[in-house]
Amino acid sequence: MLEGKRIVLGISGGIAAYKAASICSKLVQAGASVKVVMTESATRFITPLTLQTLSRNPVYLDTFDEFDPAVVAHIDLADHADLVLLAPATANILSKMATGLADDMLSTTLLATTAPIMVAPAMNVHMYAHPAVEHNMELLKRRGVRFIEPGTGLLACGYVGKGRLAEPEDIVAAVVQWFAASRLLEGKRVLVTAGGTVERLDSVRYLTNDSSGKMGFAIAETAARLGAKVTVVAAKTTAAMPAADVELVHVESAEEMLQTVAARYDDADIVIKSAAVADYRPVTRVPGKMKKTNSERLVLELERTTDILQTLGARKKGQFLVGFAAETEQIETYAMDKLQRKNCDLIVANDVTAEGAGFNVDTNIVQVFGAEGRVASWPLLSKHEVAEKLLQLVAERMAAREARE
Ligand code: PMT
Repeated sequence: MLEGKRIVLGISGGIAAYKAASICSKLVQAGASVKVVMTESATRFITPLTLQTLSRNPVYLDTFDEFDPAVVAHIDLADHADLVLLAPATANILSKMATGLADDMLSTTLLATTAPIMVAPAMNVHMYAHPAVEHNMELLKRRGVRFIEPGTGLLACGYVGKGRLAEPEDIVAAVVQWFAASRLLEGKRVLVTAGGTVERLDSVRYLTNDSSGKMGFAIAETAARLGAKVTVVAAKTTAAMPAADVELVHVESAEEMLQTVAARYDDADIVIKSAAVADYRPVTRVPGKMKKTNSERLVLELERTTDILQTLGARKKGQFLVGFAAETEQIETYAMDKLQRKNCDLIVANDVTAEGAGFNVDTNIVQVFGAEGRVASWPLLSKHEVAEKLLQLVAERMAAREARE
């Protein structure tokens, strides 16, 4: 199941470190090549020799232990990984990851790697619930780190509560599932729109909206991670540019977005329109800066923009088309209307008045509608989590459609 996969297993210093032996052994049995990095504290709970024997590789302990003079060990290790699995993760290593501290081999490798990181925390119940730890975990989730939830039960410290390392077989199952999912969109071409369009009144003033591009960029990054070839057509954004390997095309107005998306539409397998596109634009754009007049009032005349999504829906030739709906009331009614009118396969509706949802926040609360009505309803999640669930749903529905054809 993990044949050919290169996994770096990081072990930090908690009592659950002894379970890392079982995790290591199961990963190797599943076919993975495992290289282990331990913190000094971890070596108090379990010996490096145990992990060396089980992984059949030398164990990395000290940043300055350079086994091979041809490479720098922590960079080589970081580059080698298809996945870094940190199990168990203590509150201390989570804090180092959140702040970017690199003072030993494990934290340095975690900072140097561009591979996906999966973390299985284990600690005392009160430590796990501490706002500082919660904050660090939230921050790491937003950066794309995946968490394997700890279990609830009797902890080594004597407390009963949440903080027990997930069982080794569940951790390995999560790894197997992650690798399977990472090929989910292999061979697919995904076109995403992000941000808010800008409709100019003159050369310095414009009409726009609050879209930051966070939702669209999260979809683009996630699709790329799942193996797709991704193009993002982005209007005005304030979010950090997508970290993953995606083609980024900048546009400004609804009309430019229409032309850019239409030109790429025939080559796309999946199109996701998360951009907030202006419905109206000024009829005239004044050259230079519009002058103030003596009049107390100024009436702006606006005209309709072309509905890009509707245009794509009318031209659909096998593409899987996903629209978004930014609503403030009667979510289902409006979402279903948009789905049908714009000939979408799915509509993702967000109530943009709800706290933690919609414009310019890192999270979203969405309901997804298909031709049969509501097909999913997700609570407050990070936009990356929404993106992942959405792309899984898209992949499932495309597979079902292909099976029918
Ligand atoms: O960017 P963020 O800050 O992360 O915020 C995310 C978001 C709130 C912008 C996003 O989640 C969202 O809801 N995007 C759609 C916003 C919107 O324009 O909704 P709408 O209900 O007005 O439009 C419905 C659909 O038609 C959308 O897919 C939109 O892209 C599309 N549309 C609308 C008008 C138009 N002229 N052309 C279009 O293609």
